[in-house]
Amino acid sequence: MTAVVAKENKVDGQRPPLQGVIIRDAVEADLPAIVGIYNAAIRGRISTARLEEVSVDQRLPWFHEHSPESYPLWVAEIDGQIAGWLSFHPFIRRQAYRGTAEISIYVHEKFRRAGLGRALLEEASARAPNLKINALVGCVFGHNASSLRLFERMGFERWGFLPRIADVDEVERDLVMVGLHVSVQA
Ligand SMILES: CC(C)(COP(=O)(O)OP(=O)(O)OC[C@H]1O[C@@H](n2cnc3c(N)ncnc32)[C@H](O)[C@@H]1OP(=O)(O)O)[C@@H](O)C(=O)NCCC(=O)NCCS
Repeated sequence: MTAVVAKENKVDGQRPPLQGVIIRDAVEADLPAIVGIYNAAIRGRISTARLEEVSVDQRLPWFHEHSPESYPLWVAEIDGQIAGWLSFHPFIRRQAYRGTAEISIYVHEKFRRAGLGRALLEEASARAPNLKINALVGCVFGHNASSLRLFERMGFERWGFLPRIADVDEVERDLVMVGLHVSVQA
């Protein structure tokens, strides 16, 4: 899968156009950049419940859980640089939930607030039906305001709230589950 995002991504006329972004299936050579973005987020303590940084080798099995046809892992590339990534995972590995996927989205700090998160989520919503996915779920810490806002802006609704279930550096954190039903194409 490769998509070139060349359309204008403007909200209320305030944002410059988002152009030249290529969203494509990740290949193994992308993994160091993917892991680099992820480790920066781990250090930030806001976006992931993983608290220790990971190595490329440790993430290889995770990388191979994805494939272009089933639970893909995409990267967003700008001028040959990996600027962000989005992954699909089974929400719960039971048959009844096979149409529901959890998505994770990470944008390199250097490329934030440029519309990349929006572009990746738009692509996920648009392509989900072809992947036989009809509901997308995001699991977000309650203190991750930017991510909650992004999902909200993309039409996700708050489907769940799990109070104080995470311990991040001895601070209790809430988990918010956001979700979106995507239309199934005929
Ligand atoms: C959340 C994240 C993916 C947003 O990516 P981004 O490319 O910066 O987002 P966009 O530029 O597309 O912003 C889209 C909308 O999201 C919201 N948003 C994004 N960053 C925000 C911030 N720092 N504060 C408030 N709202 C924000 C805004 O509503 C924004 O629309 P607007 O600019 O028109 O107001 C990025 O901050 C990130 O990678 N965070 C760390 C990882 C993470 O938290 N992932 C979610 C858990 S899976």
